[in-house]
Amino acid sequence: MERVVNLCKRRGLIFPSSEIYGGFRSTWDYGPLGVLLKRNVKDAWWRSMVQLREDIVGLDAAILMAPRVWEASGHVTTFTDPLVDCRNCNARFREDELPASRACPNCGAKDRFTEARQFNLMFQTHVGPVEDDASIAYLRPETAQGIFVNFLNVQTTTRKKLPFGIAQIGKSFRNEITPGNFVYRTREFEQMEMEYFTPPEDADRWFEYWCQERLQWYMDLGISADKLRLRPHEPDELSHYSRGTADVEFLYPWGWGELEGIANRGDFDLTQHAKFSGQDLTYFDQEGDRRYVPHVVEPAAGADRATLAFLLAAYDEEDVEGERRTVLRLDPRLAPITVAVLPLSRHEQLVPVADDVAALLRPHYMIDVDTAGSIGRRYRRQDEVGTPLCVTIDFDTLDDRAVTIRERDSMAQERVKIEDLRETLDERLGR
Ligand code: GAP
Repeated sequence: MERVVNLCKRRGLIFPSSEIYGGFRSTWDYGPLGVLLKRNVKDAWWRSMVQLREDIVGLDAAILMAPRVWEASGHVTTFTDPLVDCRNCNARFREDELPASRACPNCGAKDRFTEARQFNLMFQTHVGPVEDDASIAYLRPETAQGIFVNFLNVQTTTRKKLPFGIAQIGKSFRNEITPGNFVYRTREFEQMEMEYFTPPEDADRWFEYWCQERLQWYMDLGISADKLRLRPHEPDELSHYSRGTADVEFLYPWGWGELEGIANRGDFDLTQHAKFSGQDLTYFDQEGDRRYVPHVVEPAAGADRATLAFLLAAYDEEDVEGERRTVLRLDPRLAPITVAVLPLSRHEQLVPVADDVAALLRPHYMIDVDTAGSIGRRYRRQDEVGTPLCVTIDFDTLDDRAVTIRERDSMAQERVKIEDLRETLDERLGR
């Protein structure tokens, strides 16, 4: 974990937020390479959930919503963690995370905790110039509710028949008591959620389907099966809305932890919003000539957590000719840079050719042109940020109009004519 965090800082993937002010409470900024990686993760999700499917459409709802939404959803009353203070050192903890010995994790004092009180995780703000109870609003703690309140809008405008889904990617906020483990648990994070509306009798089947589908998505993008598992929730773990939940878990350096939750939400959400809004949110099934409240199956993933899992799974170190090589074995679809263009030196005859090759490739791939340092060092710099392919321009290029393609994992090299370069790169990248 430490090595991955160091790599992220050193190579501009992820920085501590507000760092020149000493950082700010487990918030993180994605740098030039990190923003590309995370964007690729989100794009891969969107492609599999929306682009490649006939039965799912997209949405981008507002972060600020009517406060009644959060009363209807149950978040105002039940989205809480039990909080205790140590009477000895005043440090605060989640009661359910205390060690069995009930010794304070900060000062070691034994059983000196206050009674637990319920702490609501939603961030409050005020909308408009007056700060009173009537102007309270919340930063959304999940993107899901933006989907439920738009069920009718989307269903009537798209004329989708059940089953169909609505997918959304966006920021969510939770005032977590114990954020930590880098971007694993933060107070501001991005979610990738999809609500799949089904006839009541089909919900269990779709729940099973989405569990397998989502597990497979992580494997297809390069996480090995032994680092992933599906863990059904015990009845006492279930959220207030859930009839059944399974987590896709990843084997983090500190042990198994949640990557994504898949929940069978029943008709809880639409029933609640119908009750609180006074709107009819039932669906009329013309073929079956019946009206009902759709049930919902929800695969809810975190973009930051997925990015971290892909980074951890891809990180590798190996010895190559007596030297340590760090390599991120990222799937080419996720790698921040797809192709690096490397002139052998800054020689005045090589640079213009490298510029031409870069111009040829730039519209098609995210490229990086690196001219600094020995070619061996530049390969290593690309390896450690996961660039799958490097293209090297050398003095022979001036005569034969050919370049060398060097592959990240095998380090194998192949000479290719510039006129065939695009086709060969596409082939290598599986496009
Ligand atoms: N709509 C259901 C829902 O929000 P959740 O299990 O609370 O379910 C879904 O969240 C996913 O969002 C999690 O599996 C995780 O990937 C991500 N997530 C939740 N809280 C997070 C936090 N504090 N920091 C980073 N990611 C978080």
